Amino acid sequence: MRIRVLAIGDVTGKSGVGVLAKHLKSMQADMNIDFTVVNGENADVIGARPQQIRQIFEAGADVVTLGNHTFRKADIIPMLDEEYRLLRPANYAPQAPGRGYGVYNLDGPTVLVVSLIGRVFMDVGPDNPFFEIDRILKRTGADIRLVDFHAEATSEKLAMANYLDGRVSALWGTHTHVQTSDECVLSGGTGYITDIGTTGPRNSVLGVDPAQSVSRFLGNPPEFYKSAEGPCKVEGAVFTVNTLTSLCESVERVRIDD
Ligand SMILES: [Fe+2]
Ligand SMILES: [Fe+2]
Repeated sequence: MRIRVLAIGDVTGKSGVGVLAKHLKSMQADMNIDFTVVNGENADVIGARPQQIRQIFEAGADVVTLGNHTFRKADIIPMLDEEYRLLRPANYAPQAPGRGYGVYNLDGPTVLVVSLIGRVFMDVGPDNPFFEIDRILKRTGADIRLVDFHAEATSEKLAMANYLDGRVSALWGTHTHVQTSDECVLSGGTGYITDIGTTGPRNSVLGVDPAQSVSRFLGNPPEFYKSAEGPCKVEGAVFTVNTLTSLCESVERVRIDD
């Protein structure tokens, strides 16, 4: 039996949530998707609010992952404890609210989803993600094992993918919001792509209004970030996983222009 997993890159701002809601269900039908994981850490541009996370679930997500912006909007904190389909990075400090992984049932096979965050160029001081994923895999079995590795450095993402090759079904990168063209099945059978991209305005700097971002790099005082405007896209990747072996058979990049 084969399971098709769709991973969607960081949904950014109101227009990102809107374009996801407009396209996700038809994408799932057209691409025969069984399970969908959406990164929602930028649903409120910097962070996410409960209402936006609910909209992402209503759009068709089975699990929503977060990242370094998890705690930027404090009203999400109760939801982190209450909503088992919402994951913040597993390698946050042990006292952090919420959970970093979960096992979900798909009429038959079970699916483990893990949210992990990198440590290179990341300012939130997480624990070592390599040791954390070892602990999780040791105590949690599932037919399909998926990892969203929210990290900045390509080296850290590639190292993690090689560390987990053959032990997880798929690992994809999020956080940099720029889709990479290195999708592949590694030699041990793990599906991999360094970054699945972003869902939101096409003409933007990581979803933010380009003029604001340029201004920041010119050294002007920071402003409250606004979403960019204009046409949007949905980006992600599809992993086809064999449930007998738990390994990936193919990876396809996805980009839908609105
Ligand atoms: Fe991020
Ligand atoms: Fe992001």
